[in-house]
Amino acid sequence: MSTDTLLDALHERLGGRGLLRDPADMARYGVDWAGERLGQPLAVARPASTAEVSATVMLCREHGVAMTPQGGHSGLVAGALPAEDGGELVISLERMDRVREIDPINFSMIVDAGCILDNVKQAAAEHDCDFPLSLGAQGSCQIGGNIATNAGGLNVLRYGMMRELVLGLEVVLPDGRIWNGLKALHKDNRGYPLQQLLLGSEGTLGIVTAAVLKLSPRQTQSRTALLGLPSVEAVITLYGLARRDCSDLLSAFELIPRRCIELAMEATPTLSDPLDDAYPWYVLMEVAASGPLDLGAMLEHLLEQGMSRDLVVDGALAASDAQAQQLWQFRESMLEGQRRRGEHLRTDIAVPISAIPAFVERASAAIMAASPTCEIIAYGHVGDGNLHFNILPPTTLADADKHAHLHELETLLFEVVDEVGGSISAEHGIGRSKQDAYLARLSPLERELADGVKTLFDPAHALNPGRILPRP
Ligand code: FAD
Ligand code: LAC
Ligand code: ZN
Repeated sequence: MSTDTLLDALHERLGGRGLLRDPADMARYGVDWAGERLGQPLAVARPASTAEVSATVMLCREHGVAMTPQGGHSGLVAGALPAEDGGELVISLERMDRVREIDPINFSMIVDAGCILDNVKQAAAEHDCDFPLSLGAQGSCQIGGNIATNAGGLNVLRYGMMRELVLGLEVVLPDGRIWNGLKALHKDNRGYPLQQLLLGSEGTLGIVTAAVLKLSPRQTQSRTALLGLPSVEAVITLYGLARRDCSDLLSAFELIPRRCIELAMEATPTLSDPLDDAYPWYVLMEVAASGPLDLGAMLEHLLEQGMSRDLVVDGALAASDAQAQQLWQFRESMLEGQRRRGEHLRTDIAVPISAIPAFVERASAAIMAASPTCEIIAYGHVGDGNLHFNILPPTTLADADKHAHLHELETLLFEVVDEVGGSISAEHGIGRSKQDAYLARLSPLERELADGVKTLFDPAHALNPGRILPRP
């Protein structure tokens, strides 16, 4: 059967809005966020319901065509990018964007997988609740993508990753059957936690079509501070103090190097240097509460301790929500600042929190020895031991040589990650970009188990073939 027959059948089933075949209409589904990698969709299916997702998958299976589910396409490891050979049908969930139900007493909500994260947060807030996943791409990423990548972000130290924020799932399996697990239960210990396998499966085991999300009481007040510190050791010591001193109300503790402050100011010219002097390291931290507590006094007490112990040299405490937003703007704009530098190495490694200072020192020494004029940009989620140890290539390097050079540096970096017992991916996942490094670190037993899981769900490798595990 030809692919034309499939596309005609899909057109018939999904209607004109449900199937894109024109190259101009499909263009945005074939380029990743950084604009660095291109793919070629066979076509783009845009089902409007779970039944339509199921029908799409069944038709693809009949015709032996591979599929790639796509959410907001903000993923950073080329998981949702269709293959270059034009053989994969993109299944975009973007038309499935309905909040189905909110239960503010059960602290849960049921949403379609194509809901944009920001919209979910807004809907929860309207019912006096928070959905506490927060990340730079929240204006475009979708709940289905957050589930498939087990997304992390800025508030993991307090609320956990997506895995801890999902109570139930509705999934279309790679053979088209619908698995309805939309239970809104905070406790459910029946047998194997099968749905958890979908969290972080990167679209290789099933297409998430809806989810029951766990909510928190809405934070009615928060305090944000940007602090200047002399060293990464000081940052980690302050983190230990903050976790203990802030009564479990610490909701963010982000490490930012000076270079990122500069990149943020370059990307957003309305930003000006936040402190009177420049410091090698900054911490952007937040405490938040849903009840009537004196958060200002709590933060001031912490900062007094930090200053008296020479951990904190200077700091800006936001006096209003607008000022807090401006401090957070540095965190957002520094990503755009990096993107503007073109191709660079993006990583999302994890190490034990206490090992962060030694790791930064060892990794920086290894990278600088191999590439003295590259630029290291190490920032991240300190409370999760998760660093984005990114590298801008030497500006003198020809474009054609950048990729190979960055790959060599990544290999060196991951060797240091191994030495401290870390992970090569804390939050972005494996996709296609990190597959070699992932496979090289799997023991034969782990590989056997991973192959077994894939075979159980998708023996034909019809869904996202070649992501996480290689094609057979
Ligand atoms: P996509 O990119 O569309 O897809 C990601 C993967 O999930 C692909 O493998 C795709 O096939 C699969 N998939 C998508 N939807 C479904 C579905 N419904 N069912 C099954 N599989 C599906 N990530 C973090 O963890 N923390 C951060 O702090 C963070 N910050 C970011 C900041 C910026 C500026 C950007 C661009 C990205 C950031 N990311 C971060 C990465 C990214 O935003 C997350 O991985 C996000 O969860 C991806 O969601 P998405 O909808 O864009 O998924
Ligand atoms: C961040 C993304 C890139 O934390 O994970 O900025
Ligand atoms: Zn991150």
